[in-house]
Amino acid sequence: MRSIMVLNAKGGSGKSTVATNLASYYATQGNKVILVDLDPQASSLDWLKARPSGRSSISGINGALGQYRVPRNADYVIYDTPAAVRGAELNALLRRAQSIIIPVLPSPIDMRAATPFVQKVLDNNRVARKEARVALIANRCRENYNIYHQLDSYLRKVRKAPFISVLRETQNYVRAAERGLGVFELPPYAVRKDLDQWDPIIRWLKSKRSQPAA
Ligand SMILES: Nc1ncnc2c1ncn2[C@@H]1O[C@H](COP(=O)(O)OP(=O)(O)OP(=O)(O)O)[C@@H](O)[C@H]1O
Ligand SMILES: [Mg+2]
Repeated sequence: MRSIMVLNAKGGSGKSTVATNLASYYATQGNKVILVDLDPQASSLDWLKARPSGRSSISGINGALGQYRVPRNADYVIYDTPAAVRGAELNALLRRAQSIIIPVLPSPIDMRAATPFVQKVLDNNRVARKEARVALIANRCRENYNIYHQLDSYLRKVRKAPFISVLRETQNYVRAAERGLGVFELPPYAVRKDLDQWDPIIRWLKSKRSQPAA
């Protein structure tokens, strides 16, 4: 069973978008997928409610209410998390994940705000021992934005976490989310660019680099 957590202390960075798209991807590949929503806002569970019944099935768990149990026969467990987790709560969350994806918005303000958070995640015992692995992605990038310059100076500060992809800003995510779908389930001609941008994320998650060191 693979467990993947999408995490950032900052609200609106794309946690639910990344979590639901990952769930959609693995489900369409024929896997048994559990989407655990740890956020009382329950965006991921709302997404699941909108999901048409004919689509590859995904089970939802409301983890915001306290105790919950993940079925052992799941292939993938994807955790969507609330904003503003810190301290003991953050360390408790990190115990559940093998792979942690941190989406960051590519603005100087958001990157600055994310830096101490990413550092706290990297300082976590399990992460420091490589029992859980971390990667960053930039989300909602405008095509004409000089993202690489911004990211470069940012990543020098958080260089222990690989930066694996840039997701562009596009209504495809909004339209897919309204219908309880991921971009993987939209007509391929409309999402070619987006699928290319997901490719390195999927490859990282498939590789040993995203899994606990032996
Ligand atoms: N790449 C993108 N392109 C366009 N819109 C996006 C993109 N990523 C996210 N959004 C939109 O931005 C908004 C915030 O995204 P999302 O809900 O995924 O963030 P979040 O980190 O889960 O927020 P919260 O902290 O409130 O849970 C949503 O309306 C979502 O549809
Ligand atoms: Mg959310």
